[in-house]
Amino acid sequence: MNEDQDPTEYGPRTNAFKTLREKIYFHRLPSYGNRIFYSLGFMALTCLLLLTITGITMGFMGQTWWLFSPWGIFVRSIHLWTVQAFIFILILHVLVGFSTSGFRAPRRMVWVFGAIIFALVLIQTEFGYGLRGDFASQYRAISGADFWNGTYLGYWLNPLNYTQTFIIHVAIIPLTIFFLFLAHYLIEHTYGIAKPYRKDISYKMVPADHRVLFIRGGALVTLIITLAFFFHSPYVPAIRIADVAKKDPNLVATTLLADFDHTSDTATYFDSIDPYTFDTRTVFVTTPYEQVASLDRHTPDAWTIFKQSSTTARQAYIAQAKQYAARDMLAQHTASSTNPVIAMIGTLIPMAKNGIYESLLDQENPSINYTYSLRFLKETGVLHAQASALNMDTAQWGMVKDETGSVWKLPPGSWWLAPLGLVNTAFNLLNNSYGDRDAALILGFILLVFILFPYIPYLNRLPELFPIAPLIQGERKSNKSIEEAVD
Ligand code: HEM
Ligand code: HEM
Repeated sequence: MNEDQDPTEYGPRTNAFKTLREKIYFHRLPSYGNRIFYSLGFMALTCLLLLTITGITMGFMGQTWWLFSPWGIFVRSIHLWTVQAFIFILILHVLVGFSTSGFRAPRRMVWVFGAIIFALVLIQTEFGYGLRGDFASQYRAISGADFWNGTYLGYWLNPLNYTQTFIIHVAIIPLTIFFLFLAHYLIEHTYGIAKPYRKDISYKMVPADHRVLFIRGGALVTLIITLAFFFHSPYVPAIRIADVAKKDPNLVATTLLADFDHTSDTATYFDSIDPYTFDTRTVFVTTPYEQVASLDRHTPDAWTIFKQSSTTARQAYIAQAKQYAARDMLAQHTASSTNPVIAMIGTLIPMAKNGIYESLLDQENPSINYTYSLRFLKETGVLHAQASALNMDTAQWGMVKDETGSVWKLPPGSWWLAPLGLVNTAFNLLNNSYGDRDAALILGFILLVFILFPYIPYLNRLPELFPIAPLIQGERKSNKSIEEAVD
């Protein structure tokens, strides 16, 4: 309790909610504190609450609801439009703090906590897209996984694992943001809105106008809901292995052979780290094959035959399969082939066509985890081809867009990832084998400077070069003339 506070002022009739309100509100502000520039923090908080409400609703109702039911699509669109508003408002909030030097001591940690929140929000958007359950989720998960592998964090962060993405998006990051916000707000509330650093700006202290604050918050929510009603979050169906197998069975057969032969993308994966250390022959071919073969007691077990063959015979089987693959004829052979490699592939192709193969791959992991099926799709090249067709390949600044293929359509894509595209293009990172690692290093450095900005000598005086503070904090001419007239 505050030392100069009189405990007797709280009695049995005290209203707890009123007390709470008294504790958390700002009461007196410098005159400019009632302007919209200083409502941005509250508006950001409004977005955070709206994201939590819509996010929890979607989490409870499930993916089919948010993708296909009219109410689900509406709530998902509110979530997406809120993200758009949230990031836009945060950027303005940062610019106000920056240009008024609101980050100076003793508020330096207010900035630091805020900047960490900003970084977490950007990361959170990628995990959010990963949850959606459409083509964007698949493509972003694959690109995101490469990025995290490039940063060495891929052992812990795997966007291809849906369960992990879900827990990170709905629990870990929101809770971290919430606690950081508490720290941000408690310090700011204790010290009050910063006074002008420029001595030529005069101000007086006035009561905080909460009515106007709530009107601004209400207008923001109305705008978001209206936009979500008219412009829905996009949806392009996810690509399934069954679609590829029906359209191009030879492509699937060739991919299976490459996995069996350990020459596929996954088997030869290369980045700062390689978390795909599982055996591609076991995961993609023999385990699903054995599950299917165990149901059929009449055909001989091709995998056992292969294992019992001599090394020379094994090499000959693989060489023959490769010859068929080169002529695009591998998928024409069936489970009854005398070549056990071709027989295994011949068994799996019909399974791939009816969707069972993909389910078998996904079931090899104990939780909802698409690492195997998405890596397999990646190996076929169809994810990349579809992304290029939709204009969202990395080389086309794809992370900045979603399935509409444009940042200008409504709702816009992730325009906030433009710095990543800029770094990729400026440093020609897409043609560099260590591009992901280098992009992460450059962005990591920029982020560190952003977070520690108030503590960096000279740099933290940068805002003083721009005369923007008087526009935000200076007395309005009209007010001044009214006051002068009254005097
Ligand atoms: C969830 C995100 C955030 C929320 C809800 C939030 C909320 C607030 C609120 C309510 C205030 C006091 C009133 C106002 O200035 O609006 C404030 C002040 C401040 N915030 Fe944030 N903020 C967030 C993120 C950030 C970020 C990303 C930064 C900068 C990197 C930042 C820097 C500041 C600074 C420097 C002040 C003090 C301004 C002054 O006293 O003049 N905040 N914030
Ligand atoms: C900083 C806060 C948050 C950000 C920036 C954010 C961002 C996103 C984005 C960009 C999407 C994809 C939207 C789309 O499909 O069009 C998404 C989806 C989702 N988010 Fe969040 N989110 C946040 C907070 C939350 C919270 C607190 C929850 C739940 C507790 C949540 C649950 C979900 C769920 C279930 C989805 C999948 C449905 C969907 O695609 O919209 N989010 N999020």
